Amino acid sequence: MDAVIDETLRLYTAVIFHERVANEDYELKGTGITIKKDQVVHIPIYAIHRDPEHFADPEVFRPERFLTENIAHNPYTYLPFGAGPRNCLGMRLAQLEIKLALFNLVHRYVFHATEKPLEQGVTGFLIIPKSVDLRIEKRT
Ligand code: HEM
Repeated sequence: MDAVIDETLRLYTAVIFHERVANEDYELKGTGITIKKDQVVHIPIYAIHRDPEHFADPEVFRPERFLTENIAHNPYTYLPFGAGPRNCLGMRLAQLEIKLALFNLVHRYVFHATEKPLEQGVTGFLIIPKSVDLRIEKRT
């Protein structure tokens, strides 16, 4: 379940970019770049998460890439909760809440993979309450 959540937050990161302001000149060693005091550094999380240099077939939903034995990316290329001393304070709570929400959904609904675009323009999953007769669903 952790891998599914990690992969979801990679593709659909809630915070698409971060910004930091330098409080002093800072040289990025080995690059010839110096960030000047007060310059804003923009960190494009959405783009980094979908960069094939960091994640093979980045547009593909593949939770297995987050299984411990498969993790191949640099930790700073996966930043749904930010990083460093100002990273998300609620990360653990958020992860727990996501698991509880998923648990409740799986408990109450049956998920069916579908190729058909749904009404809202979403492709992927159709949620059907367990009480619905699936044969009736097939006829529509
Ligand atoms: C899926 C849910 C969440 C996501 C994706 C998320 C993501 C983030 C991100 C990206 C940051 C900025 C980190 C950075 O700049 O390095 C942040 C900061 C923060 N988040 Fe979350 N967050 C989530 C849920 C929560 C929850 C549930 C709480 C509290 C109950 C929370 C509290 C905070 C706080 C207080 C900060 C500011 C930390 C600081 O500036 O020192 N977040 N979050």
